[in-house]
Amino acid sequence: MRKKIVAGNWKMNKTLAEGLQLVDDILKLSNENDEVIKIIAPPFIHLASVAERVKSVKGFEVAAQDCHQMAKGAFTGEVSAEMVASTGTRYVIIGHSERRTYFGENSKLLAQKVASALANNLIPIFCLGESMEDRNANVHLETVKQQLKDGLFSLLPADFTKVIVAYEPVWAIGTGVTATTHQAQGMHNFIRSEINKKYGKVISENTTILYGGSCNAENAKELFSCLDVDGGLVGGASLKASDFVAIANSF
Ligand code: PGA
Repeated sequence: MRKKIVAGNWKMNKTLAEGLQLVDDILKLSNENDEVIKIIAPPFIHLASVAERVKSVKGFEVAAQDCHQMAKGAFTGEVSAEMVASTGTRYVIIGHSERRTYFGENSKLLAQKVASALANNLIPIFCLGESMEDRNANVHLETVKQQLKDGLFSLLPADFTKVIVAYEPVWAIGTGVTATTHQAQGMHNFIRSEINKKYGKVISENTTILYGGSCNAENAKELFSCLDVDGGLVGGASLKASDFVAIANSF
């Protein structure tokens, strides 16, 4: 089923105490509305504590910002999908543009991460999006199509239905430049039509597609009013409780 989701990606911000304070502030300001799923994605080391904090609160979930593709072993510093799941976390962001850019994560690796997440009953929030160069060269649709194909389209239909897609144009992430509703709706519609071609209408209509990239309390309503935008993946604005809650209330 297509869901309404607002996910807060904290990236590498907040100590444990600061993070738990932010969660408490968010919970205080939120109404218990499980029509919109609010997902908090803190750094790995906060997952268990944040999951414990929100465990009995309706409509709240926790996501990791990444996971390793292998099940276990000698991979110093890494965290497996099984370890993430063992904290009570149910979602995992995979393929964020910062992982692709700064950590060299390519499509082949990301497909392995998706498989590992699904094998451990985690719901992948799979990120994709074009650079400004791609958009200027008018190859943005091609880029996103390729990312979909390489990262997700090897999945069997039953597995694909578990995935959430997040369209995050690289030029909009952390820049204060948001995609226009025309640009966002255009790409979301394109993504849905590619999913339709691959998996059929029922699955494409039921796929949740989030927008990310300078989404904030001011522009969320307009973005979420687009037919094919089912919510947001929010970075900077998720670090302030009142902004995150305002965005979650923007449907
Ligand atoms: P931003 O980040 O909201 O700060 O642009 C979005 C993201 O990276 O998921």
